[in-house]
Amino acid sequence: MLTSIKENHLTNKGQELGMMYFRVAIILFGAQLLMGLIAAIQFLAPAFLFELFDFSVARMVHINALVVWMLYAMIGATYMMLTDETGHEGVAIGLGKLGFWVLTAAVTVVVLVYIIVQVGSGTEASLWLIHEGREYIEAPRWADIGIVVVVLIFYFNVFATYMKGEKTGIMTVMVANLLALAGLYIAGMWYTDNISMDQFWWWWVIHLWVEATWEVFVGTLAAYALIKIIGAKREIVEMWLWIEVLMLFGSGILGMGHHYFWIGTPEYWWEIGALFSALEPVPLIAMFVHVLYDWGKEQGIAQGKGEVGNVIKNGPAMAWIVTNAFGNFLGAGIWGFFHTLPQVNIYTHGTQFTAAHGHLSFFGAYATILIGMMYYGLQRSYGVERMKTTFKSKMGIFLTTFGVMGMTIALTIAGYEQVLVERGEMGATWNAFFTAQNLPWYIQAQLWRAIMGVVTFVGFIYLVWDLLTIGKEAQKAEA
Ligand code: HEM
Ligand code: HEM
Ligand SMILES: [Fe+2]
Repeated sequence: MLTSIKENHLTNKGQELGMMYFRVAIILFGAQLLMGLIAAIQFLAPAFLFELFDFSVARMVHINALVVWMLYAMIGATYMMLTDETGHEGVAIGLGKLGFWVLTAAVTVVVLVYIIVQVGSGTEASLWLIHEGREYIEAPRWADIGIVVVVLIFYFNVFATYMKGEKTGIMTVMVANLLALAGLYIAGMWYTDNISMDQFWWWWVIHLWVEATWEVFVGTLAAYALIKIIGAKREIVEMWLWIEVLMLFGSGILGMGHHYFWIGTPEYWWEIGALFSALEPVPLIAMFVHVLYDWGKEQGIAQGKGEVGNVIKNGPAMAWIVTNAFGNFLGAGIWGFFHTLPQVNIYTHGTQFTAAHGHLSFFGAYATILIGMMYYGLQRSYGVERMKTTFKSKMGIFLTTFGVMGMTIALTIAGYEQVLVERGEMGATWNAFFTAQNLPWYIQAQLWRAIMGVVTFVGFIYLVWDLLTIGKEAQKAEA
């Protein structure tokens, strides 16, 4: 991955820029995991790094790095496919590169400030300079404005290239969806000192990202990747894509009501949230079926023609995309559905059950396919016809997936115990909260989460090792 750009098999400048974004993404992913490990140890030994690196900071950097690396990888993937899909050179890639450096410098400064300034009062100045105190998207206002400028440059590149080039179905969805995705960020920038109103708008970003626009984005990536990796027919993947878009927006937009149960919004949100969010797993099933169907179909056609071997041109990328199909359905669809009805959510709200869902969904729906796109980028960079799965690729995907699944199960058990003891038995008092946290079921579950976190991290090391070496190995094998 380090030499991917120098290799010079990339057919256009946009792809170079895509690889630049991928590299930063993977570094931030590593930082995310290290922060998670620190926070996980602090659950078990609360004095660990106390007043040196507090839980609040570790947790904040953990989930902000998560969002930022995913956005980096999403921008990278878009640049990767832009010229391919439109048949036109990216219009202002030089400007895009400038944007990349500005964004990366800003992200570095923001993270350093998070780490250096850990405590203090929230004031108008801290809002501008330190952070905004909005979970997942804490960037201080100066950085917010910078982010908007850089994203405008990115969007200009995508939109103008699209207008000049061919307008495929995939690109049409991409261009419209990115406008919504980027525009929603602005909803998280308004400041109000009414906490209900603040949460109301904050969910427009978080929920409408992960359950509407990010999901549609993943749909476009999967469509593009299936065409490239297994030679799926464009008409078929684009037909699926339109159906998915319709269903995702149809359920996801009003599904936002499942966050409006207890924050002071009107009670009609109970019914709206329950109904529409309960429908959200349906498109996820469709996406799952679609990937497996196309794969089976292309393989069948190849066999029918008497070809030997499989149709997959990039083993690790396809493995991650199939994991995405499962992970999205399980993490978002199943684990999301578990707690989405208000009758259930009244007990599970804000327990470790939520964290279980948060881990499996972000990993299953997004980390997986974005890593798949990185492998695809590598294949292009090194100009190889086929990229085969290595031992390291297998260890990378197996250990990270097994680790995240393990953490999810441990957290689900912890959440279950909280529901029974803290909420059911003891009526959700302050005292109940601490009693539930000190029972063996909870403590053991947190221990298992930490162990499974280490497994995830070992998997990550294999993944990086593979990303750094697989390109050269594939070139050698081909020669
Ligand atoms: C890939 C898609 C998804 C991702 C990445 C995701 C992620 C998350 C995260 C991180 C939270 C915790 C937010 C917080 O800090 O308060 C959350 C909450 C929630 N999610 Fe999802 N989610 C996804 C899809 C879904 C779906 C499809 C459903 C329902 C079918 C769902 C139902 C819920 C509910 C009900 C909550 C609130 C939990 C509570 O009351 O504590 N999610 N989600
Ligand atoms: C080394 C592995 C990891 C460890 C040890 C770890 C640990 C943690 C800890 C301790 C928290 C704070 C939970 C709380 O406040 O109760 C957390 C939150 C979170 N982590 Fe991780 N994590 C890891 C990997 C990941 C991965 C791979 C993802 C997703 C791709 C992820 C996504 C999240 C999310 C979305 C939250 C917020 C959940 C919520 O508040 O509901 N983490 N993690
Ligand atoms: Fe949601």
